[in-house]
Amino acid sequence: MPTMAIIGMQWGDEGKGKIVDLLSESAAHIARAQGGNNAGHTVVAKGVEYRFHLIPSGILYPSAKCYIGGGTVIDPASLLAEMDQLRSHNISFEHRLFISSYAHVVFPYHRLLDELADRSQGIGTTKKGIGPCYADKANRLGLRMADLLSKGFRNHLKEVLKRKNFELEKLYGHPPLDFEALASEYERYAQKLASFLAPVEEMLYKALKKEKILLEGAQGTLLDLTFGTYPFVTSSSTIAGGIPAGLGLGPAIDCTLGVVKAYTTRVGNGPLPTELSPEEMARFPDHIQSREIGVTTGRKRRFGWFDAVLAAHTLRLSGINRLALMKLDILDGLDEIRICKSYLLHGKETSSFPVLSEELLQVSPVYETLRGWKSSTKEAKSIEDLPKEARAYLSRIEELCAAPISLVSVGPGREQTLFLDPLFKEADWRC
Ligand code: GDP
Ligand code: IMO
Ligand code: MG
Repeated sequence: MPTMAIIGMQWGDEGKGKIVDLLSESAAHIARAQGGNNAGHTVVAKGVEYRFHLIPSGILYPSAKCYIGGGTVIDPASLLAEMDQLRSHNISFEHRLFISSYAHVVFPYHRLLDELADRSQGIGTTKKGIGPCYADKANRLGLRMADLLSKGFRNHLKEVLKRKNFELEKLYGHPPLDFEALASEYERYAQKLASFLAPVEEMLYKALKKEKILLEGAQGTLLDLTFGTYPFVTSSSTIAGGIPAGLGLGPAIDCTLGVVKAYTTRVGNGPLPTELSPEEMARFPDHIQSREIGVTTGRKRRFGWFDAVLAAHTLRLSGINRLALMKLDILDGLDEIRICKSYLLHGKETSSFPVLSEELLQVSPVYETLRGWKSSTKEAKSIEDLPKEARAYLSRIEELCAAPISLVSVGPGREQTLFLDPLFKEADWRC
């Protein structure tokens, strides 16, 4: 049966949570493959707002089976807090939330080292320990969920902690962490999480033959460790190709849906070529109204105009078939709307996305200006309900990205979604 990958096409926070929740209605299985609780995915269902960091955003449907794959990194305390959030809403997830034993575990020394390193490195990370945890994985110093439950856990942790404490003390002058306290804290977590560990890889392999699987990307393509705006990136592969690798699923994606905002945002440091001037920013709804405050860190997101050079580039990197165009309503009040169609770099116009972040900082966007629609799109139920200027804006984005828009989102709620493509209405995901 078909699989669909949901991939952020910008720098994260495109609205993936909303789309995953919507499409989960017809999916039997929903899986997260990479990242950790640096992600923050929002779902607004029946007026209630849920924030997911590691638990897949499809969990609200009582029959959906949700998986946290081997390519993720798990902070047990944060995961347990997410579970409590669900319990407080009377959402039961026992026997339908499964965690891969291959996933690596985030420890307090990862969070500390993230925080201490970022003081001088200046990436503006989420400080959740994600980078140091993936670094330990690559250095063969990590502990996986399976290791947490194994007999050798204490010995394993003791060896690793020696090295981590050395780093903390010698490099940063930070007091060492106490082995006994850490080991017993994580043994308690292991007990609480043990019943959720399952052979996720085998389960998904079998599911693939019978039912639809939704693959929930985290972060955005430009935060990809290899192809993002390095070094201002996260530490996992966020492109569509990274998802099967993170799940041990085989290259089985039938449709890749690119989730993209009608403008651009970025949280944390690094280049953002179309970043708004303070005067332009003043014409947009503020951060609270536009829901542009980070779910994970509470930081205000930076704003930019829609960047078609970026979108065409990320579309190629993930082999995006269709677009979900999000947050059109945020542009409702503008007289004029700009789209960046190319860059000027070293005096030459180009539609290539530079590899070097310092070059991306130097590009001048070449804009075209479209008329705004100056009316609310929030209540629209179909594409015909949108003002003609809004439809012209969507058509221009389709043209510049060379991909069709399948969904338009005009508000955070499930019902504020326009389906332009029978592919989704009929819940057939073969693109
Ligand atoms: P994700 O990380 O990609 O899942 O996105 P986030 O949840 O971090 O950020 C998206 C924010 O925009 C959330 O607060 C959503 O509830 C909200 N949102 C999603 N779609 C729309 C939309 O079409 N219009 C408006 N106004 N808000 C939206
Ligand atoms: P979702 O899934 C937006 C950013 C951080 C920082 C960089 C590295 O909600 O779209 P990290 O802590 O991962 O080492 O930080 O990546 N970042 C995100 N930005 N949305 C996310 O996830 C992000 N996850 C990480 O702000 O710039
Ligand atoms: Mg987010």
